[in-house]
Amino acid sequence: MVKSVNLAIIGTGVVGSAYINQLNNLKSKIIFNVIYLAKNSKEAIFNKDYKSINLSNYKQETTQPLLSLDELVAFLKNSPKPTILIDNTSNVSIANYYSNFLKNGISIATPNKKAFSSSLKIWNDIFRTAEEDGSGLIYHESTVGAGLPIIGPLKDLILTGDKIEKIEGIFSGTLSYIFNEYSTTEKSDIKFSDIVKKAKELGYTEPDPRDDLNGLDVARKVTILARISGFEIENPTSFPIESLIPKQLESVESSNEFLNQLSNYDSEIQKIKDDAFNNNQVLRFVGKIDLSTNKVSVEIGKYSFDHPFASLKGSDNVISIKTNRYPNPLIIQGAGAGAEVTAHGVLADTIKIAERIAN
Ligand SMILES: NC(=O)c1ccc[n+]([C@@H]2O[C@H](COP(=O)([O-])OP(=O)(O)OC[C@H]3O[C@@H](n4cnc5c(N)ncnc54)[C@H](OP(=O)(O)O)[C@@H]3O)[C@@H](O)[C@H]2O)c1
Repeated sequence: MVKSVNLAIIGTGVVGSAYINQLNNLKSKIIFNVIYLAKNSKEAIFNKDYKSINLSNYKQETTQPLLSLDELVAFLKNSPKPTILIDNTSNVSIANYYSNFLKNGISIATPNKKAFSSSLKIWNDIFRTAEEDGSGLIYHESTVGAGLPIIGPLKDLILTGDKIEKIEGIFSGTLSYIFNEYSTTEKSDIKFSDIVKKAKELGYTEPDPRDDLNGLDVARKVTILARISGFEIENPTSFPIESLIPKQLESVESSNEFLNQLSNYDSEIQKIKDDAFNNNQVLRFVGKIDLSTNKVSVEIGKYSFDHPFASLKGSDNVISIKTNRYPNPLIIQGAGAGAEVTAHGVLADTIKIAERIAN
């Protein structure tokens, strides 16, 4: 018998549109019927009788006003087939609603970090609900390292009884690029502020680079991995986070003004870089979870020239997982952002859920 599931997709931005394209070209034994597609925060495509939407033509389809989250739960709950919600947004309200979806038997696949890296209460609500009989399943591989296999393998190690000792990684593509260019194994006089400006020009940073340099995005990803590893992290700011923004520039109004003034502070980080270089080390902006000392942090780390983090290129992410079984750490490396790789992570999660619930 051919099995099928229903999908409700929210968001057709960078990741959402790549996801739809990959889904449309998917060769699978399971049939995926898209019964609801929120094109953006205003309009959606759906039919009250759950007739599936033609994905190759969705841009031309007639839209209706978005269903409220309560209405969406009610609509999906009555769907004649098991249903998966694909949240391809960074919206907090949707994230805060995950427990309601799960409670009503609706599964979730998402790259949206918000629900997993906010308060511990939200995390506990989600995963306790997901364990209850009749609840939906929830997969979120792309919330750390985009499509890189990090969360799945980490959970597998823990499930099968391995003991995690230390997780260390470069989790921001932007900060990976900045430090890979700034601190190299060859002597260079390049200035930190010039690299930040170049990263902005290349479109690697957020519109205001301070949103990358404050370390908070890295802290959110570290929070997710720490919680999976058993740390009860209350919220993503409850451990030390080293900000790369000079104190005096935190409140400067515009991002241009910030970039203009950043060069006045180059000497501080230059000294740290020079000291490291004199010890055959490079600087990298890392998240660390040390289960032997019970410490979690986001900081500038120093790594010897022959360490895998020192040879990182471009804007790649890398994660090192040291466990009882892997005393020589397991290293996972590759693109940690981008439409195609993120979408494939979400689609792979969708397929994993479908394999468990399709009928
Ligand atoms: N891009 C990457 O490389 C990457 C990598 C890893 C993880 N992620 C995660 O993937 C998610 C999506 O990222 P993105 O780059 O695709 O963002 P994006 O281009 O800004 O797209 C977000 C989409 O969600 C829609 N949306 C927002 N709120 C909504 C709501 N309440 N109801 C329906 N639609 C809503 C937006 O519509 P409006 O335009 O109307 O707001 C837009 O279509 C984020 O959580 C991000 O952190 C992205």
